[in-house]
Amino acid sequence: MGRRICGAMSHSRVRFATRLGVRLMEATATAAAPPTAPVSGPIRGLPPGPRMNRAVQTAIWSRRAQWMLEQCRARLGPIFTLRIAYEGEWVIVSDPEVIKQVFTGDPKVFHAGEGNQILRPLLGENSVLVLDEKRHIGQRRLLLPPFHGERMQGYGEQMQAIAAREIASWPTGTPYRLRPRMQAMTLEIIIETVFGVRGGARLEQLRDALRGFLDLTTDPRFLAPILALGPDRIRAIPAFRRRTDRVDALIAAEIAARRAATDLEDRDDVLSMLILACHEDGSPMSDVEIRDELLTLLVAGHETTATALAWAVERLVRHPAKLERLREEVLAGEDAYLTATIQETLRLRPVISIVIRRLTEPVELGGYELPAGASVTPAIHLVHRDPRIYPEPESFLPERFLDEPPGTYTWIPFGGGVRRCLGAAFAQFEMTVVLRELVRRHRIRPADPAPERNYRRAITETPRRDAEVVLG
Ligand code: HEM
Repeated sequence: MGRRICGAMSHSRVRFATRLGVRLMEATATAAAPPTAPVSGPIRGLPPGPRMNRAVQTAIWSRRAQWMLEQCRARLGPIFTLRIAYEGEWVIVSDPEVIKQVFTGDPKVFHAGEGNQILRPLLGENSVLVLDEKRHIGQRRLLLPPFHGERMQGYGEQMQAIAAREIASWPTGTPYRLRPRMQAMTLEIIIETVFGVRGGARLEQLRDALRGFLDLTTDPRFLAPILALGPDRIRAIPAFRRRTDRVDALIAAEIAARRAATDLEDRDDVLSMLILACHEDGSPMSDVEIRDELLTLLVAGHETTATALAWAVERLVRHPAKLERLREEVLAGEDAYLTATIQETLRLRPVISIVIRRLTEPVELGGYELPAGASVTPAIHLVHRDPRIYPEPESFLPERFLDEPPGTYTWIPFGGGVRRCLGAAFAQFEMTVVLRELVRRHRIRPADPAPERNYRRAITETPRRDAEVVLG
C-alpha cells in the first residue's frame, strides 16, 4: 500500500523542514525543465527530481504529499524521482500507459510486499500485504472467494443494520465530526462480517483489543519507534507486545471455537470461509496464517473505507443540489447516482495517494532504464487530476461516471494488477449501504461552508475537520 510517515524527526523539525522545503520548491518552481524524450533508446538511470535533500523531501512528503506531487509534476513532467527517508528512490509515474505497464508487469520484477515490511511485526509473516511472488499469490488465492463481487449481498443485511443503528445514535442540530463515527461503524462491520463475531461480551472484548491494536498503525508514538527500530526489534517494546499479545489471544480463541463449530458451511463470515479454504496442495490454512490475514483485512479495510465515507459526505454537503439529487434517487430506490458519487469521491479525494512497486531488476519505463532497487510509484492522485482524462478535474461531478464507467488505468483508487485491493468490491458496497442509510434519514449541511482541506493520518488523506456536519 502507499505509505508513510516521516521517520523519527521531531514535530518542530518536521514543521521547519516542511516550511523551508515548500519555500524552496516555490522559489524553484520554474527552474527545472521537463525531461526531453531521448533521441535513441531510453535514458539510463533515474528521472530528475526536486533539488532538496532527502530529509527536506521527506518532511514535505509527510505533511503535504499531494501538493508535492502536483508541484513536481508541473515542473518535471509525468515521471520524476522523490527521495524519501527509509524508502530509497521513488520514481513517480502518472501516465496511464506507464501505469498499465507497471500493473501488468511481472510480479517477480515489481515487488509490492517488499515495500510493506514495516507492517510485518503487526500483521505477521503470512500477511498478503508483506509477501511477494509465489507466496503472495498463494495467500491471495485463499482470500479472494469471500471478497468476490457476488458475495457482497450476503454481507448487505448486517452492514445495513449496523449503519442504521450507528446513524440513529448521531445527534442532530449541532456540529458533529463524522470521520471518527464512520470509523467506529467500519470497525463494527469488519468484526461482524470478517471475524463473524456478533453481540455479547466476546464482541466487546474483541472490539476493545482491536482498537488498541489499530492505534499501533496510526499513533506516532508507536509508528516512530517501528521506523527507528525496524520491523524485527519492535517487539522489544512492552506496550507493543501487550497490545499484539492481547489481540492474538482473542483471535486464537475465536479460531479454536470456529474450528469446533458444526455450522461452518452455513456461515458466510470471512473467518469461517478461511477455515474451510485449502492451499493448492489441499492443506488447510494454519491458525497463524488465518490470524495474519484477519488482521491484514482489518488494517487495510477499516480506516480506508471510513475515510472515503467521510470524504463523500464532505464533498456532498458542499454541493447541495447534488446531495438533493442523490437523496431523491435513493428514496426512489435507484442506485446509479449513488454509485457515480462514490466513484467521483474516490477519484477526487483518493484516500491513498500512491502505490509502490520495488524493482528486483532493471526495467525500461517512460523513456528511462530504471535500476534494480528503485521503486516505481503510480501516483493515484495525479492520474485522477489529469485534465486530459477528466475535464474540470478539480470539480466534484458524479455525472461524469453516469455514462462512462471508470477506466482500469485512469481510475485507480484501489491500485491495480495482482495487487489490486482485495476489498474493492466490499468497500464500495459498504459505502453504498452507509450513504444510502445516511441520506435517507437525514438532511445534512456543512458545519462551516469552507471546504475541508486534506490532512495526512499515517497513510490516509483525511478531511482536516473530520467531515464536520450538522444533521437535520
Ligand atoms: C475505500 C476503501 C479502500 C481503499 C481506498 C483501498 C485502497 C487500497 C490500495 C490502494 C491498495 C494497494 C493496491 C496496489 O498496491 O495496487 C489496497 C490493497 C489491499 N486492500 Fe484495500 N482499500 C480499501 C478498502 C479495503 C477493504 C474494505 C479491505 C478488506 C476488508 C481491503 C483489503 C486490502 C488488501 C488485503 C490489500 C492487499 C492486496 C494485495 O497485496 O494483494 N481494502 N487497498
